[in-house]
Amino acid sequence: MSMLDKTAPHAQPFFLGTFASNCSGGMTVTKVPERWASSWDNNLRLAHLLDEAGIDFMLPIARWIGYGGETNFHGNVLETITWAAGLLALTRNITVFATTHTAANHPVVVAKQLATIDQISRGRIGLNIVAGWNKPEYEALGLTLPDDHVTRYGYAQEWFDIVQALWERTEAFVWDGTWFKLKNVLGDPRPSSRPPILNAAGSEEGRKFAVRNADFLFTPAIDLARSKDEIIALKEQARAAGSDVDVLTFAHVVCRPTEKEATDYLEHFGRANADWAAVDNLVRLQFAHAQSFPHDLLALIRDRMAAGHGGFPLTGTPEQVADGITALHAAGFRGSTLSFVDYVEEFPYFRDTVLPILEERGIRIAPAAMRSAA
Ligand SMILES: Cc1cc2nc3c(=O)[nH]c(=O)nc-3n(C[C@H](O)[C@H](O)[C@H](O)COP(=O)(O)O)c2cc1C
Repeated sequence: MSMLDKTAPHAQPFFLGTFASNCSGGMTVTKVPERWASSWDNNLRLAHLLDEAGIDFMLPIARWIGYGGETNFHGNVLETITWAAGLLALTRNITVFATTHTAANHPVVVAKQLATIDQISRGRIGLNIVAGWNKPEYEALGLTLPDDHVTRYGYAQEWFDIVQALWERTEAFVWDGTWFKLKNVLGDPRPSSRPPILNAAGSEEGRKFAVRNADFLFTPAIDLARSKDEIIALKEQARAAGSDVDVLTFAHVVCRPTEKEATDYLEHFGRANADWAAVDNLVRLQFAHAQSFPHDLLALIRDRMAAGHGGFPLTGTPEQVADGITALHAAGFRGSTLSFVDYVEEFPYFRDTVLPILEERGIRIAPAAMRSAA
């Protein structure tokens, strides 16, 4: 059973997960020596901490080449399907997503990989679909990134239609599509229930894809007033299409006993010691090929790109961090991922100080209460 089953009577009011722990640097483009090392051992330590604390999910980034700079940010990356399978075999409750580039992974193979992990995890695998944006990465794989979003998402739609057909149909079938011609194909085994589906996008085509296919759209939270209007519009669009999509975002946490300690540390890792060459590569590629960050806002958030890959800043005391999460909830987000400079070192302080405040405010339910409700 997935923690992200939003229809379950005991679902969390506001979902919490982590993002990018499978990538070197995590979400922080910094040169400080304690920056995140994305080893298997560190990921497993983190997964155990999160699982025991009742955190709902872990989401990886699928990345095939780094962003350069002094640290080659995201140069060391654990592959997400094998990463998810390993973590799920060794945890009990948490949902773990695989992130898949549609162009780099055959849908028949992916459908079976996820059905296999569904058995390993007893229904705790999720799928984050990436329709493509990073041209140098496509070139590294010998693939061509279509310039237009209509083709990218048209391909992704056919890809996901095949995955869903393999998860649903009980008779072998023929697929005669634009991109795929398949003969006598059957999904066996099939997952016990449809895994939660995420799609991260900012473009119009991307949002339409999410409304058609996903349980959650992933978008940045930069201006919360604007997010609030966009979430209302998206949910209306989904209702009109007969679907139900919720919106998740991503946030970067610097939580310390005093505000000064938190802002001093932010200044240290995210400004004075940022890997600005890698930040500029990241921003340049986003401008060139993606609309995941609105371009009028992207130009303004170079600092945020360094400190948390553009994530919503949660900087300050436990009370201030809880206030930030409360503001995301009030803007209509259904949940957020969290990242830290060093996830394993910093998560326990967040767990011990921020989670109780969120529980008092009714935004989170304590793990013990969740277990007795289940
Ligand atoms: C929260 C989030 C997670 C994402 N995860 C990945 C990823 O793991 N790998 C990747 O190549 N792109 C990733 N993307 C990029 C998107 O999937 C998408 O291709 C990109 O934002 C272009 O979107 P657009 O269609 O709005 O232009 C992510 C984007 C966001 C906002």
